[in-house]
Amino acid sequence: MKTLVIELLNNAIDDLDIAEISEALEQPPKPELGDFAFPCFRLAKTMRKAPNLIAEEICEKINADDKRGNSFEKIETKGAYVNFFANKSLFAETVIEKARQDSYGSSSEGNGKTICIDYSSPNVAKNFHVGHLRTTVIGNSLYKIFDKLGYNVERINHLGDWGTQFGKLIVAYKRWGSEEEVKEKGIEELMRLYVLFHDEADKDESLEDEARAWFHKMELGDEEALAIWKWFFDISLEEFKRVYKLMGMEFDHYTGESFYRDKTDDVVKELTEKNLLTDSEGAKIVDLSEYDMAPCLILKKDGSSIYATRDIAAVEYRKKTYDFTKCLYVTGQEQKLHFAQVFKVMELLGNEWAKDSLIHIPYGLVSLSGEKLSTRGGNVIYAEDILKEAINKIREIIDEKNPDLTEEQKEEASRIVGVGSVIFNDLYNQRIKDVSFKWEHITSFEGETGPYVQYTYARCSSILRNIDGFDINSADIDYSVLSDPASTELLKEIDRLEDIIHESAERYEPSVIARYAVDLAQAFNRFYTENRIAVDEEKIRISRCAVTYITRRILRDCLDLLGIGCVEQM
Ligand code: ARG
Repeated sequence: MKTLVIELLNNAIDDLDIAEISEALEQPPKPELGDFAFPCFRLAKTMRKAPNLIAEEICEKINADDKRGNSFEKIETKGAYVNFFANKSLFAETVIEKARQDSYGSSSEGNGKTICIDYSSPNVAKNFHVGHLRTTVIGNSLYKIFDKLGYNVERINHLGDWGTQFGKLIVAYKRWGSEEEVKEKGIEELMRLYVLFHDEADKDESLEDEARAWFHKMELGDEEALAIWKWFFDISLEEFKRVYKLMGMEFDHYTGESFYRDKTDDVVKELTEKNLLTDSEGAKIVDLSEYDMAPCLILKKDGSSIYATRDIAAVEYRKKTYDFTKCLYVTGQEQKLHFAQVFKVMELLGNEWAKDSLIHIPYGLVSLSGEKLSTRGGNVIYAEDILKEAINKIREIIDEKNPDLTEEQKEEASRIVGVGSVIFNDLYNQRIKDVSFKWEHITSFEGETGPYVQYTYARCSSILRNIDGFDINSADIDYSVLSDPASTELLKEIDRLEDIIHESAERYEPSVIARYAVDLAQAFNRFYTENRIAVDEEKIRISRCAVTYITRRILRDCLDLLGIGCVEQM
């Protein structure tokens, strides 16, 4: 519809191009003003006429244009505006005929192309905290979005599982730890040992040397050192996987920093050959002052590689292995410089593609102002505890709202809605903004929340459950039934789906989907208030069921694109 409006305007106006017309086109706030409105003020200057006269002139031309066809009820002027009133049943037909297809929203445009997404990537021996929850949720949603557009996506978990901190941990474990404690408490105990190391190292400097020596041993492949490291690794991964399972998420590759430990020598060699390495107080760096950036550290004084070295090795490995068109990195804003440096070094190594293909996707903080969140040792907040708390809170609400569900149904619904509520809250605002964490809002069944969207989905399901024999494939729809304002508004939302998915992919912005899901749910609930669905007259019933069916499927797809599940009853 919009395309046609723009085309008609373009045929009637000489002084503006399509892009300018499209930008100026407005969606009027009230149905009395039509479905699209074009303001003519801007043309007054070039056309040297009063805007309302210009509007009339344009309107006349358009009404005489053959292309106008029967797509509009009327096109008329109001002051300086040309207002377009869509032919509502034709509009309903166009939208429903495309949206009733199972494939509506999917696309094959990404076929043959691979996107790597590096996300989640928690640090071994450290807790999976709220910050990691954000990268996990954003990365997973980007995976779903690009998958929907037909891309092959490689989900990569770049675990922080290598580096001097493991030398410290080994020292602490050997001095003050015990096998039983680590076995019993897992990451919590490893964190305690790590903090203890720093306390003790303040008093005794030799501990730092000892730690360096242990990490050096790890790098040389020392059996004992690696065995302890591997044990800590396994314990941590098990805990991380428990969180992923709770969230219903998976990865294609757990290739963390340690995976690149035998690949950093090649990085150093290549940088040396291309004359990019300089000495700086015994360390090796790539000077980036020409690009207004701090130098990228490649080798420390003691010759060990660092975070950036392993990231460079990782880009090379991924390019070679997956031949990606894009590699996305979802981390907090504080790593902006790090990625700018790594990407620049890749470019300096002669990789033209690095400029457009390597993309850092930053996000804001989680602000917990005033919220009481359960903590384990050392006041640390675990993502897992937040998810469990959400599940419990939703369980209480479901127990009250829907006591007739079976225990099994209640459990499933609480998990899916509870986890979903936290994910939705995270994804609802632009990712760069800080996320505010307020239980009362997150788990509410009303407002812009996950439970609200899920509840609307369940409502659609229940409506359809209660109607016998509806089948979208054979449904004979009377489009004129769907020309009332509430139906038209809902159909307009349904019509937006493809644009929404594209926009979210282009901007790497799941919030576009989350907001759309709320808009769609609201439009459906208005439609539902205005229109009875289970009426006797078959044509009306079937036509309204069809819209309900389509809404339900899009809500489910949108939730899925956010990494959130659905339940039929809650
Ligand atoms: N482990 C890092 C952290 O917790 C994130 C790793 C991000 N990915 C990467 N390739 N550097 O901050």
